[in-house]
Amino acid sequence: MEKKNKVFIATSLDGYIADRNGGIDWLHSIPNPDNIDMGYGEFMSEIDALVTGRTTFETVCGFDIDWPYQKPVFFLSNSLTSIPDKFKDRAMLIKGPLKSILEQLHEKGCYRLYIDGGKTIQSFLKEDLIDEMTITIIPYLLGGGIPLFTELSKRLDFECVAAKIYLEKVVQNYFVRKS
Ligand SMILES: NC(=O)c1ccc[n+]([C@@H]2O[C@H](COP(=O)([O-])OP(=O)(O)OC[C@H]3O[C@@H](n4cnc5c(N)ncnc54)[C@H](OP(=O)(O)O)[C@@H]3O)[C@@H](O)[C@H]2O)c1
Repeated sequence: MEKKNKVFIATSLDGYIADRNGGIDWLHSIPNPDNIDMGYGEFMSEIDALVTGRTTFETVCGFDIDWPYQKPVFFLSNSLTSIPDKFKDRAMLIKGPLKSILEQLHEKGCYRLYIDGGKTIQSFLKEDLIDEMTITIIPYLLGGGIPLFTELSKRLDFECVAAKIYLEKVVQNYFVRKS
């Protein structure tokens, strides 16, 4: 089975994934009367598991909605030594260097991974471990917040192999790591 680490995320025009208060309401502020999912359902159908940072995991747990994932969820935390009871039926805590985390997940049969959370994606990029990124750009300049990208020690080249416009306002680009 092919091993892939994939990102599917929305950013502001200036590259933030959450505003200065960690808020993400702005992501859903463009009218979407038919509730189109902008490819999310298809993306989710093609992954084996989700790997998310603790902050994103806790944010999703705080939503007043049914549990949104049908795939196994692994969350990264260095500060937690075990998963809090209230989350036990939702996710598994996973720790360690990323390469060892990936080995553990591959041994469990999870090869196609959805990598989520700003710091988490950045840490994967620092080790050149992201293969694909679908980035949906919401055309607002937030002026500050939690960035998707930070500095890297070397340049990483991606190719944009598809681009779509949704709701006549939102651009979604699909990037693949150039080998
Ligand atoms: N725009 C979007 O589509 C989108 C998508 C996802 C999330 N978000 C938003 O983004 C914000 C969260 O992003 P974030 O950048 O704060 O962080 P994050 O990646 O969700 O979580 C970071 C935390 O994960 C843990 N961690 C453990 N190992 C790690 C590793 N190797 N690399 C990185 N993190 C590791 C650490 O937790 P400990 O401190 O416990 O060690 C770290 O503080 C939330 O506001 C969320 O709603 C937006």
